[in-house]
Amino acid sequence: MSKLRFLWVVISFLVFVLVVVDGQSNSTHPTEVTALQLIRESFNDPDTLSNWRRGDPCQSNWTGVLCFNRTLDDGYLHVRELQLLSLNLSGTLSPAFGRFANMEILDVMWNDITGSIPKEIGELTNLRLLLLNGNELTGSLPEEIGYLPNLDRIQIDQNHISGPIPTSFANLNKTKHFHMNNNSLSGQIPPELSRLPLLVHMLLDNNNLSGTLPPELSQLPQLLILQLDNNHFEGGIPSSYSNMQQLLKLSLRNCTLEGPIPDLSGIPKLAYIDLSNNNLNGSIPDMTLSNDTTTIDLSRNLLTGPIPRGFSGLPNLQRLSLFNNSLNGTVSSNIWQNRTFNSTERLILDMQNNRFSGISGSINIPTNVNLSLQGNPACPNDSVADYCRSPSAIVNSLQSVPSNSTENCPPQSCPYEYAPGSPVPCFCAAPLLIGYRLKSPGISDFPAYFYSFEVYLTSGLKINQYQLDLTYEWQKGPRLRMYLKIFPVYTVPGSNTFNRSEVLRIRSMFTQWEIPDSEIFGPYELLNFTLLDPYKDFIPTPTSSSSGISKGAVAGIVVGAIVGAVLLSAFVSLYILRFHRKKYHAISKKRRISRASLKIEGVKSFTYEEMKHATHNFDVSSEIGQGGYGKVYKGVFTDGTVVAIKRAQEGSLQGEKEFLTEIELLSRLHHRNLVSLLGFCDEEGEQMLVYEFMSNGTLRDHLSVTEKYKESLSFAMRLRVALGSSKGILYLHTEANPPIFHRDIKATNILLDSKFIAKVADFGLSRLAPVADMEGIVPGHVSTVVKGTPGYLDPEYFLTHKLTDKSDVYSLGVVFLELLTGMHPITHGKNIVREVNIAYRSGLIFSVIDSKMGSYPSECVEKFVTLALKCCKEETDERPSMAEVVRELENIWQMMPESELRTQDSLGTDHGKNVSSPSSSSTTKNPYVSSDISGSDLVSGVVPTIAPR
Ligand SMILES: *[C@@H]1O[C@H](CO)[C@@H](O)[C@H](O)[C@H]1NC(C)=O
Ligand SMILES: *[C@@H]1O[C@H](CO)[C@@H](O)[C@H](O)[C@H]1NC(C)=O
Ligand SMILES: *[C@@H]1O[C@H](CO)[C@@H](O)[C@H](O)[C@H]1NC(C)=O
Ligand SMILES: *[C@@H]1O[C@H](CO)[C@@H](O)[C@H](O)[C@H]1NC(C)=O
Ligand SMILES: *[C@@H]1O[C@H](CO)[C@@H](O)[C@H](O)[C@H]1NC(C)=O
Repeated sequence: MSKLRFLWVVISFLVFVLVVVDGQSNSTHPTEVTALQLIRESFNDPDTLSNWRRGDPCQSNWTGVLCFNRTLDDGYLHVRELQLLSLNLSGTLSPAFGRFANMEILDVMWNDITGSIPKEIGELTNLRLLLLNGNELTGSLPEEIGYLPNLDRIQIDQNHISGPIPTSFANLNKTKHFHMNNNSLSGQIPPELSRLPLLVHMLLDNNNLSGTLPPELSQLPQLLILQLDNNHFEGGIPSSYSNMQQLLKLSLRNCTLEGPIPDLSGIPKLAYIDLSNNNLNGSIPDMTLSNDTTTIDLSRNLLTGPIPRGFSGLPNLQRLSLFNNSLNGTVSSNIWQNRTFNSTERLILDMQNNRFSGISGSINIPTNVNLSLQGNPACPNDSVADYCRSPSAIVNSLQSVPSNSTENCPPQSCPYEYAPGSPVPCFCAAPLLIGYRLKSPGISDFPAYFYSFEVYLTSGLKINQYQLDLTYEWQKGPRLRMYLKIFPVYTVPGSNTFNRSEVLRIRSMFTQWEIPDSEIFGPYELLNFTLLDPYKDFIPTPTSSSSGISKGAVAGIVVGAIVGAVLLSAFVSLYILRFHRKKYHAISKKRRISRASLKIEGVKSFTYEEMKHATHNFDVSSEIGQGGYGKVYKGVFTDGTVVAIKRAQEGSLQGEKEFLTEIELLSRLHHRNLVSLLGFCDEEGEQMLVYEFMSNGTLRDHLSVTEKYKESLSFAMRLRVALGSSKGILYLHTEANPPIFHRDIKATNILLDSKFIAKVADFGLSRLAPVADMEGIVPGHVSTVVKGTPGYLDPEYFLTHKLTDKSDVYSLGVVFLELLTGMHPITHGKNIVREVNIAYRSGLIFSVIDSKMGSYPSECVEKFVTLALKCCKEETDERPSMAEVVRELENIWQMMPESELRTQDSLGTDHGKNVSSPSSSSTTKNPYVSSDISGSDLVSGVVPTIAPR
C-alpha cells in the first residue's frame, strides 16, 4: 500500500517535471524575443509589424519570423530566418540583429531602411544569406562581416554604402556571391579577394571604385561573372585576366581603362564581353572566341586596325558593337554567313563611326542581321546604302512571351486569370505573382532564349513548363526585369488554386535561393512575391493581425492547460508506458513475419541497408528524377550493378499486401521493350522498386536541344523507337494477364538503353485493364478519376472518364508527333496535334518536321505522320488498334531505303549496335539524368489504383 503510494508520487513528480520542461521548451529563446522587440522598435513606425506584439514569436505566426521546427539543444525554439522582404519598413537596423545565434537567413530587401549596417551582424555565425539590397543604407561595410564563416551570399546592392571593401572579406571562405553594385564604394578592390575559393559572381558595378584592377583576381578559381562597369580605374586590363578558366562574362564598361585589349582566347567559355566606353587603344587581338559568345561590345574606345577574323562564324552571337572607334578594313560577310537563323534569333552589328571601306564577301545579308555602317567611308556608296542608317535597338519596352490561347475565353466568368499556357483551354486559376530580375545575364537579346529560360526556371522550381507565364523588359545594367506568373496545375475541374504547402514551397525556393544557378542567365534578384486572394492568409502579414484574446484570458488558458495536462498526463502516461511496449513488439513481429514469407519469383528482395548504401544514403547527388510516386535514385550496388530505384513517398505508400500483389504482377511482365523490375525493398516503413538502369535517359531528352544530348536522333532511330515502344505497349494490352492499360504514355516515360533500344517505363502501377467479371462480361472500360499528363490525354477519356486501349493509342500518337517534329506536346498554349493537323491539311507537312534529324526519306515520313495523326483522332473508333499501329510501323520500316538503315538486319534482332547514329558515340557516356523534373517523368503523377474487376 505505502509502496504503491510512493510509486505514484514518484511518477507524478516525473510527469510534472516532464511537462514543465516541455512547456518551456516550446517557447522562443528569451534573448531572441527581446531582440525582435528591439528590432521592431528601431523601425520608424513600429506598427508596421503589429503582430510582433502577440504571443510567442515562433508560435504565433509573427510576420517574417521563421523558426526551426523543433527546440534546439538548449530546450528553446530559435529563429532561423527573418524574411522581411518588401514590407515598406523604414527606420534603422538595430544592433539586436546580431543576437540570433542560429539564424541562417537575414532578408530585409526592398524596404526604405536608413542608417548603417550594424557591425553586430558579424556575430551571426550561422548566417548563410545576408540580403540587405534595395534600401537607403549608408555608412561603410563593417569589417566584422568578413568573418562570417558560413556566409554564402552577400547582397548589399542598391544602397548608398560608401568607404572601401574591407580586406577582411577575403576570409569569406564559403561565399559564392558578392552583389554590391549601385552603391558608393570607393578605394581599390582588395587584391586579397583573389583568395576566395568559391566566389562565382562579383558584381561591383556602379560604385566609385578606383586604383588599378588587381591582376590577382584572375586567380579566383570559380569566378563566372566579373562586372565592374561605371567605376574609375587607372591603367589597363591586366593581361592575367585572359587566364580565367571559368569566366563567362567580363563587363568593364565605362571604367576609364586604357591600353590594349588582352587576348581573351584563353578563356574557354567566355560568352559576354563588354569593354565599351573606355580609352582602350591599339588593334583588337586576333583572338579565337568561344562558340558560346553572345555579345561583344568594344564600342566607344580608341581602337584601330581591322575586325579580327575570330569574330566570324560565332554561332550564337547576338550583338557585335564596334561603333565609335577608328577601325578600318572591311566588314566581312563571314560574320553572318554559314549561320542559320531561326525566327527568334537576331544579330546586331553596330559598326557606325569607324573607317570601314565596305563589305567584303556576299552583300546578301539575311533579314535577321541588323547591320549599320553609318558614319563610315563606305557609306555614300550605293551598294551598301541599305546599311547606312542607325541599327534598330533591342526593344526596351515590356514584352510578353507569345501565347494566345486565352483570347477567346469568356471575359466575365473568371474571378482569377486564364492561364495562357494551360493544356486545358480557358483554365481560370489564381496565379502567384513574382517580381524577378536577372542581374547580370550573359545574353543581350531574350527571344531566342525564351524556351531555355522557361526550362531552366520551371525545372529549377519543379513545376510544369506550362505553369509559367512571363513578361519582361530590359533595364539599365543591362538587367532583365521579369514579371512572372505561376499558375497551379490543372487536375480536376474546379481545382484552380495552389494549396498552402505548394505556395510556401515555391516561395521558399525563391527566398532561399534554392533554384540552382544558371550559367547563361546569371544570378537573379527577387523583387517581390505577392500573394493576392485566395493566398493572402498563407503568409502572415502585418495587417492580418487579429489579437482577439486578452492577456488575462491567455494566462487563464495557459494555467488551465498546464494543470489539466499534469493531471491528464499522469494517468495517460501510465497507460502509454504499458501499452506502447506491447504494441511496438506486435508491430515489429508482424513485419518480420511478412518479410520472411515474401518470396516472389524473378525479383529480389533488397534490404533497406542495401538501398541506403547504393544511393549514398539517398543523397541528392544520386537523385535522377522525381515523380508523383516519389523520388527516383540511381543506385550502384557493391558488385557494380547500376539500377534505378523508385522510392515511394508519403501518400504513395500502399498496404503491404497491395504492394506485394503489385510486385508479383510486375514480376510477370517480361518484354524487351519494357523496363524490367529487378527487385524491391519493403523495410523500415519504406517501399521501393528496383529497376534496370537506362543509360541513355528519356526519349524527351533526345528530342529537346539540351546541353547533354547535342546530337539528334536520325529518322531511322526515331522510327525504331516508335516501333519498340509500340511493341511494348501491345504486349501490355494483349499478353499481360490481366491486361494493362498504361494510362501515362509520354516521351519522358520512354527510356533508351545503352543501345538506344526503347523501353516503356512506369507501367502497371495498378493500372489494370478491365477483365471479365464472374459472369464473363468484360466491361468496355475502366472508370476512375481522370489522371495522366496534359498534352497526352485522350480527349474522349477526358470527357467521359472512360479509359480504353485507344487512350493509350492517342498518347502514343502524341509521342509519334514529338518524334517527327521535336516539338513538345504543348508549347505556349499550342497543342502539337492541332499544329501538325493544320500543317498537314495545308500541304506544308515538311515545314514542321524536325530539321535536327537531318535528311530523311520523305515517303516514309509522310506515312509516319499519317499514322500518328490517325492515332490522335478525337473519335476513339477512328484510331487504329495497337496491333494495327505495330503492323503499319513495320510496313514503314520495310520501305526504308538501305542507305538509311546502313547495315541493319531485320527488326526482331538486336540491331541497336548497327544503327550508326551520329549521337551514339557522344551520348552513351551520359548517365541517365532526367532533364525534366517537373513532377512526372520516370514515375508518373498517377496515383496507383486497382481497377474495378
Ligand atoms: C511542445 O511541442 C511538442 C511538439 O512540437 C508537443 O508535442 C508538445 O505538446 C508541446 N508542449 C507544449 C506544452 O505546448
Ligand atoms: C498560424 O498559422 C497557421 C496557418 O495559417 C494556423 O493554422 C495557426 O493556427 C496559426 N497560429 C496562430 C497561433 O495564430
Ligand atoms: C523539421 O524540419 C526538418 C528539416 O529542417 C524536416 O526534415 C522535418 O520533417 C521537419 N519536421 C516537422 C515536424 O515539420
Ligand atoms: C579557409 O579555408 C582554408 C582551407 O579550407 C583554411 O585553411 C583557412 O583557414 C580558411 N580560412 C578561414 C579564414 O577560415
Ligand atoms: C560613366 O561612369 C560615370 C561614373 O563613373 C558616370 O557618372 C557616367 O554617367 C557614366 N557614363 C555612362 C555613359 O554611363
